[in-house]
Amino acid sequence: MAMLELRGLCKRYRIGGTPLKPAYLQAVDQVDLTIREGEFFGVVGESGCGKSTLAKLVMGLEAPDAGEVWFKGRRIDHLPEGERRALRPKFQMVFQDSGSSLNPRKRVEDMIAEPMLYHRLTTRREAPAKVEELLVLVGLSGDMKARYPHELSGGQRQRVCLARALSLNPELLILDEPVSALDVSVQAQILNLLRDLQAQLGLTCMFIGHGLAAVRYVSHRMGVMYMGRMVEIGDAQTLFAQPAHPYTRALLDAAPVADITQRERVRTTLSGEIGLRPETGCPLMARCPHAEKGCASLTGALLPVAQDLAHLSACMKAERQVRHA
Ligand SMILES: Nc1ncnc2c1ncn2[C@@H]1O[C@H](COP(=O)(O)OP(=O)(O)OP(=O)(O)O)[C@@H](O)[C@H]1O
Ligand SMILES: [Mg+2]
Repeated sequence: MAMLELRGLCKRYRIGGTPLKPAYLQAVDQVDLTIREGEFFGVVGESGCGKSTLAKLVMGLEAPDAGEVWFKGRRIDHLPEGERRALRPKFQMVFQDSGSSLNPRKRVEDMIAEPMLYHRLTTRREAPAKVEELLVLVGLSGDMKARYPHELSGGQRQRVCLARALSLNPELLILDEPVSALDVSVQAQILNLLRDLQAQLGLTCMFIGHGLAAVRYVSHRMGVMYMGRMVEIGDAQTLFAQPAHPYTRALLDAAPVADITQRERVRTTLSGEIGLRPETGCPLMARCPHAEKGCASLTGALLPVAQDLAHLSACMKAERQVRHA
């Protein structure tokens, strides 16, 4: 069953220009996406491609300019504030910057207990035990509850954010680059924790990240974004083994490999700057080594790769280009 469905979601920001001729940046552009119940869906793409904006649209922190957000069969964008508030505990997000999403003046215990008390999921008497339980769930010791955010390491802060998000028993958890700011060993701990929690609680999760390996490690399916567009969606294994879109290939090929025999492989490399976006057609056209005339009239619609309905790509050359590992 679909937990979350996005249909033609668009968001643009005004970035200057004149009152008569305003300039806009299309941060999210016609995104269609379905996340199933119990699924970990990874979203990858380079900095500025619209990942956080997409998360904010789902959370209702930004209103879409066009398109629809459906949650368990109910349309939820443009809901009146009262109805939106009732839905809020069901959606939780761990923000990109864990430091700034914790109140420096509050102790861990209060930060985790507050949302539960507000939504009447616990009482003042029961709250301390519930907080301890959550801290243990995310791998922290119960005595952390008396600390302030500045007394925690980055990894510990991230776990506190996770505990706070889990405290409301969310149906959908959005993790916006939860491990990017952490060192590799702490990253691994958090990723393993997420996998355990997924198995234990059956979480449905949108996991946003730069690091392809990290996103793949926790995700069942993945989507690749480029300049606001979702350009490829597929099973995490398939996407890595048979990337169909030239941008996905370039992303994969940009990652360093430890295997010396792989270093000489043919790589897809992009030319030019990320900001080069043509007015119409495929947004990658100006940088793509495979670009040809027809790319200027591409609509961005995702089509099945090699007739596989679970693997979709926006590149019309996808079928010809599939690289079997
Ligand atoms: N409030 C805003 N006003 C104007 N432009 C914005 C605003 N928020 C985001 N943008 C722009 O929208 C684009 C997408 O931003 P977003 O934060 O979604 O990127 P991202 O993929 O999350 O990047 P990163 O990986 O660096 O976090 C960027 O070019 C950004 O500058
Ligand atoms: Mg971001």
